[in-house]
Amino acid sequence: MGLLEGKKLLVTGVITDASLAFHAAKIAQEQGAEVVLTGFGRMRLVERIAQRLPKPAPVVELDVSDQEQLDSLVERVSPHLGDSPRLDGVLHSIGFAPASCLGEGAFLNAPWEDVATTIQVSAYSFKSLSVALLPLLGEGASIVGMDFDNRQAWPAYDWMGVAKSTLESVTRYLARDLGPKGIRVNLVAAGPVKTMAAKSIPGFSAFEDNWDGRAPLGWDVTDPVPVAKTVCAVLSDWLPTTTGSMVMADGGFHAVGV
Ligand SMILES: NC(=O)c1ccc[n+]([C@@H]2O[C@H](COP(=O)([O-])OP(=O)(O)OC[C@H]3O[C@@H](n4cnc5c(N)ncnc54)[C@H](O)[C@@H]3O)[C@@H](O)[C@H]2O)c1
Repeated sequence: MGLLEGKKLLVTGVITDASLAFHAAKIAQEQGAEVVLTGFGRMRLVERIAQRLPKPAPVVELDVSDQEQLDSLVERVSPHLGDSPRLDGVLHSIGFAPASCLGEGAFLNAPWEDVATTIQVSAYSFKSLSVALLPLLGEGASIVGMDFDNRQAWPAYDWMGVAKSTLESVTRYLARDLGPKGIRVNLVAAGPVKTMAAKSIPGFSAFEDNWDGRAPLGWDVTDPVPVAKTVCAVLSDWLPTTTGSMVMADGGFHAVGV
């Protein structure tokens, strides 16, 4: 029996077949889950990528900064969830920062409007998405977000880093408020993996070059599978008392100094 046998999952954040969300959805299906995807903007592309999953998945449109789309999400997702619609898990795999917020000089110069967009899409939306889906979530459900450990400052990551620290805090407050309903809320803090979002970070190569040498278990920036497996583990029933946590999937990089 698969780790996620019989689970119904909503997976956001697929844009290419390199997306961390694509690999999480793929492994989730291989482990017995039924998956519904959400897509942002380029719906034709997402629908095409959805066909590459082991079992082609339905795609529902979602811009997490659009309140109308959030308000109608349950209504639009439910028809894909069978006779008594419910979700056992949700993956928030969404991040965006305008170019002004990333790279050399960005931190001291980015305008507030761009910083606000970064925080809204990359952190506040974890709360918005969770609240929008509450009618479908019950006892035992697991909500997972994607983090890049921001307990320290990084080169180039700048306002996206601040958004990740915000996301880490949002996770703790969501865990506090949804815990009494039996819903777990956690982040998977991944090491660097080559995806579209990663390529948009000028200076990302500094992470790529250093991670493998420093992580005790080593690290392959071209392999999304270890991160995707960790996501599936947190979505499963096997971390039943874990909530408000950052689960590290980084080869152990966070645990060692130079
Ligand atoms: N790739 C890495 O090295 C790495 C490491 C740690 C954490 N992460 C995090 O993983 C998550 C997924 O990123 P990825 O690396 O798979 O890149 P990706 O580019 O494949 O995924 C980013 C997703 O965010 C979506 N998105 C952007 N704005 C949106 C909006 N307004 N509404 C809904 N969706 C929106 C995009 O459509 C895309 O699907 C992000 O939170 C990212 O910060 C990535």
